[in-house]
Amino acid sequence: MATPSAPWWRDAVMYQVYLRSFRDGNSDGVGDLRGARSGLAYLSTLGVDGVWISPCFPSPQRDHGYDVSDYCAIDPLFGDLDDFDLLVRDAHQLGLKVVLDIVPNHCSSDHPRFQEALAAGPGSEARRWFHFAEGRGADGSLPPNNWRAMFGGPAWTRVVEPDGRPGQWYLHMFTPHQPDWNWRTPEVADLFDKVLRFWLDRGVDGFRIDVAVGLFKHPDLPDSPDPTADEDARDAINPLAWNQPEVHTVWRRWRAICDEYDAYDGKQRTLVGEVAVPTPSDQALYLRPDELHQAFYFDLLHTPWDASAFRERIGAALHDIASTGAPVTWVLNNHDQQRTVTRYGQSVLPGQEPDLDRGAARALAAALLMLALPGSAYLYQGEELGLPEVTDLPLDALTDPIVAATGRPEAGRDGCRVPLPWSGTKPPFGFTGAEADRTWLPQPDWFDRYTVQLLRANGDSCWHTYRDGLQLRRTVPALRDPALRWLADDDGILAFARGEGFVCAVNFTDAPVPAPFRGTPLLSSQPCDDGKLAANTAAWWIVDPAA
Ligand code: NOJ
Repeated sequence: MATPSAPWWRDAVMYQVYLRSFRDGNSDGVGDLRGARSGLAYLSTLGVDGVWISPCFPSPQRDHGYDVSDYCAIDPLFGDLDDFDLLVRDAHQLGLKVVLDIVPNHCSSDHPRFQEALAAGPGSEARRWFHFAEGRGADGSLPPNNWRAMFGGPAWTRVVEPDGRPGQWYLHMFTPHQPDWNWRTPEVADLFDKVLRFWLDRGVDGFRIDVAVGLFKHPDLPDSPDPTADEDARDAINPLAWNQPEVHTVWRRWRAICDEYDAYDGKQRTLVGEVAVPTPSDQALYLRPDELHQAFYFDLLHTPWDASAFRERIGAALHDIASTGAPVTWVLNNHDQQRTVTRYGQSVLPGQEPDLDRGAARALAAALLMLALPGSAYLYQGEELGLPEVTDLPLDALTDPIVAATGRPEAGRDGCRVPLPWSGTKPPFGFTGAEADRTWLPQPDWFDRYTVQLLRANGDSCWHTYRDGLQLRRTVPALRDPALRWLADDDGILAFARGEGFVCAVNFTDAPVPAPFRGTPLLSSQPCDDGKLAANTAAWWIVDPAA
């Protein structure tokens, strides 16, 4: 759908393949590259532009791959480099881009560099690659500062030195198994240059950058004014640990590498950052022309189901990000968030069960709203199936390290990561071979209502709405226009126009309203009686611009 000269990523709709849970190719109950490869044709039929693949590198999997022990290989759990190459080849043959997840803020404590640092002892060159520091207090038994880890607990762990005595502490902004690299050591940047080139040489179309506001910490590692903020919000808030000015030097360096490849073969790569910063204008700084191409705009994840709140957050993004020339990268779901069906179905009254029918209607309306916006969008696997969160996983099945660190099962992210239901009427729903003992997270029986097979066979299902929306994005010329004009401002209704005659209206209320437009209906997230826009519904029309 991009204009011939515009790079593909500016308005691409990408599909997040959370590898463990997309499709299993070897019947061990964990999704893998072979499984993902066999699902590419499905994604091509759905009509997305490409895939973001969650980390597939060797890892002890203590944070499900976001704890990397070798950046230039594939974890045997997911296959091998041949499987990877074949996946890239097949994706490209189908016209799908492949974006790889890269984790530069931290590695696994199993990484050879960290093991070397542990063995080398205080003051060694090897320790400069990480943040090792002496503890406070007379015997050094207190952490070097008061920072808290995002997933709970102190951000420092004390090591036992090679001589057997308690010694220095090392910094980890996530779990103790994820030591933070020290990007003030130039060799760290060199290492990642090589990593980038390794995967670019294998044909990837870009990288999703984990914790792209991280990498550099305040050089003095001083106490935080509000030490529990990160932990409470699970967002990058500590102003001394995140969003340091030096991080921009890294994005310029990575951009130059991508530009070098682009100049060589004329293809276009993208760097899409996980840039969780307080305001869209803070985010725009990461999207300067020589830095990241894209950054996820996370504000809609926390926006309540309310027309003016959505309008305000969308408006802020378009004003502060799109006005700088960078596209906004919209997102409603990912592997860290409660799924929209459940999120929007939550009752405001404590103790009441979520209303999943209402949540499903709102989630689909939000998806059509997102797909009608200028910019790029990232879908999370299963949202096209209208999957709700699995909120009743057995306690002993939970695997998210956040649960162990906080002791709060409800804080965990397993519920949005349950393996996808593809077909059939009982677990494993075609996710893995019938001979598999079990899937890595158990699938509930009620997944039988959400299988790909069932939804594709039902022409009225949300799957078809996603597919039709994706197709229209490619074919309606007005949707190539980067500008958006706000229309009606009635209570509970959000409406905007793009290009010549395209309009989108969303009814955020629980009752039908008169349709704000007359014209040719293109698509709606719920059936609408003539002249009406149903409750919790988005609809697209082509109207006569002169009328
Ligand atoms: C953000 C990733 O999306 C999340 O899954 C991971 O746990 C943290 N970064 C740490 O790498």
